[in-house]
Amino acid sequence: MSKVTTKPIAPASRPIGIFDSGIGGLTVANAIQKALPNESIIYFGDTAHLPYGDKSPDSIKYYSIRIAQFLLQQHCKMIVIACNTASSFAYETVKDFIGGQIPVVNVIDPVVEHVTKSKKSRKIGVIGTKGTIKSDIYAKKIHVINKQLDVASLATPLLAPMIEEGFFNNKISRTVIASYLGSRKLSKIDSLILACTHYPLIKQEVSDYYDTDVEIVDSAGVVAEHVKKTLKGKRLLATKRKPVHRFYVSDFTKSFEESTKYFFKNKIHLEKKDLWM
Ligand code: DGL
Repeated sequence: MSKVTTKPIAPASRPIGIFDSGIGGLTVANAIQKALPNESIIYFGDTAHLPYGDKSPDSIKYYSIRIAQFLLQQHCKMIVIACNTASSFAYETVKDFIGGQIPVVNVIDPVVEHVTKSKKSRKIGVIGTKGTIKSDIYAKKIHVINKQLDVASLATPLLAPMIEEGFFNNKISRTVIASYLGSRKLSKIDSLILACTHYPLIKQEVSDYYDTDVEIVDSAGVVAEHVKKTLKGKRLLATKRKPVHRFYVSDFTKSFEESTKYFFKNKIHLEKKDLWM
């Protein structure tokens, strides 16, 4: 009997694996697709366990490891943790689990590098989920680089569900945003980090809130550039190839699929993949 051999997939033509608690991480996938149009993407949204913002660190680590394992099984050449909350609690755990087989990127380090380089920053504001803010990860990472910088963090838990329901660029979103940004904690900031997958969609509204010149930093674009640089450095950039994208969710509903239009430029078909069966 002749031996069946499968052609090994060249590392550079493998997909980039991206995961999030749900569909919000599609903002990061969208930015990566824009910066790297040759790349194929495998996206996993853990809609069965959404929202991560209210979950314990242990649960988030547990979910993230299983998803990372799935992305590895899909032959991904890199894993991008698109979720700020998962990046806050599970980055080190996922990195240990992967054990250097492929690069793992979170959405926090590239942004920290960006704001600490900015000449403007003296007082940096951070808004995100309860989990991200409670972890204090931005202040910790910023202070490793520059102890002089003042970091003020505020949990803004209403924003992600509001955006996912399509409430942005309207009277309701402006009122909610103004109520959060008016917090005394965030007074006199000169940069504001939008530390959540959903917030690129309200970047303009946040910017419009300020009369003074406050730099609004959303992670999607900064992370996409970091992914590009990392793949280039490792000679893993895809060339001359028609990209194929797959979008998986752990729990499928029509409403999730409907909401993807806010986060990703092209129409998306979500496939259900329950990793916990
Ligand atoms: N993806 C989450 C983040 O960026 C927001 C939604 C959630 O709480 O799961 O932190």
